[in-house]
Amino acid sequence: MRISQEKDTIQTAPIIGIASGKGGVGKSVFCVNFALALGELGKKVLIIDLDIGMGNIEQIIGRNANTNIVDAIKSEWPFQQVQVGVTPNFSFIAGGSGLSNLFHMNQNYLTFFVEQLELVKRQFDFILFDFGAGASEDMLHFMLAVNRLILITTPEPPAMADSYSLMKMVYGLKKDLEISCVVNQIFNRREGMDSWQRLSSVAERFLGNSPTWLASLPKDHNLLMSVREQVPCMLSRPRAHYCVNMRLLARSFLVQCIGQAEHKKTGSFTDKVRTYFGLLRRNER
Ligand SMILES: Nc1ncnc2c1ncn2[C@@H]1O[C@H](COP(=O)(O)OP(=O)(O)O)[C@@H](O)[C@H]1O
Ligand SMILES: [Mg+2]
Repeated sequence: MRISQEKDTIQTAPIIGIASGKGGVGKSVFCVNFALALGELGKKVLIIDLDIGMGNIEQIIGRNANTNIVDAIKSEWPFQQVQVGVTPNFSFIAGGSGLSNLFHMNQNYLTFFVEQLELVKRQFDFILFDFGAGASEDMLHFMLAVNRLILITTPEPPAMADSYSLMKMVYGLKKDLEISCVVNQIFNRREGMDSWQRLSSVAERFLGNSPTWLASLPKDHNLLMSVREQVPCMLSRPRAHYCVNMRLLARSFLVQCIGQAEHKKTGSFTDKVRTYFGLLRRNER
């Protein structure tokens, strides 16, 4: 299968942003279980929690990281030092408060961040950014620079409306951004497809582009319990409906990546971030 061959062709990991318009739709839980599902397929994944002030990857995994992304950036600690390994194929860097506008406050922080990112990109197959809900100014720059955004929504009208607002913001600035849509917490398959179709037809009509379908994920009591127990569902209840669907989703995602040759575009994240922030390289100053 091409999925296993593809590892040889990826030189550095693509950056995949996990975003949503509204909070509480299941983004962080998705991020962790998605990373584990990719791990089962032999992919090495690093999550960087970029949810400003609300990062909760640590709580979902039930592992305390002694340091976080903000400490690392401010103290110039190598990211390798603050990475927490959960399984052989899955590590994370915890979020910290005060990430908001950190990069605008001090451009050395941004330079350090992108330099470290370039290093960790060589050790993993995918880097997942868990963004907070919506987009602050700094995070919007990152969103526009990723290789692909996975937009998580639920079928509920407030979540759908906020998903549309987020798409309006990002497509308004970058019309060709690759966005894949995941409809979470569905009661039946039809509901997921219907939600995506409604979102994409409005986006196509008014924004000139629309997200690709990735998958839907069921509302599952097992997932809720796993969050309470602080053990990711993929580890504690691997046969849960949510996990079975997550594995299918991870396979579809890899096929989507291969189809759109994600790896060919990976080198550009740093340059795009520098451009969006109007940042000069250290030796250009
Ligand atoms: N598919 C699902 N089935 C049942 N509950 C879910 C599902 N996805 C998310 N949840 C619930 O939603 C809560 C919020 O999820 P979280 O990932 O923290 O949201 P976000 O990161 O989008 O703010 C979780 O604690 C969990 O209880
Ligand atoms: Mg979250």
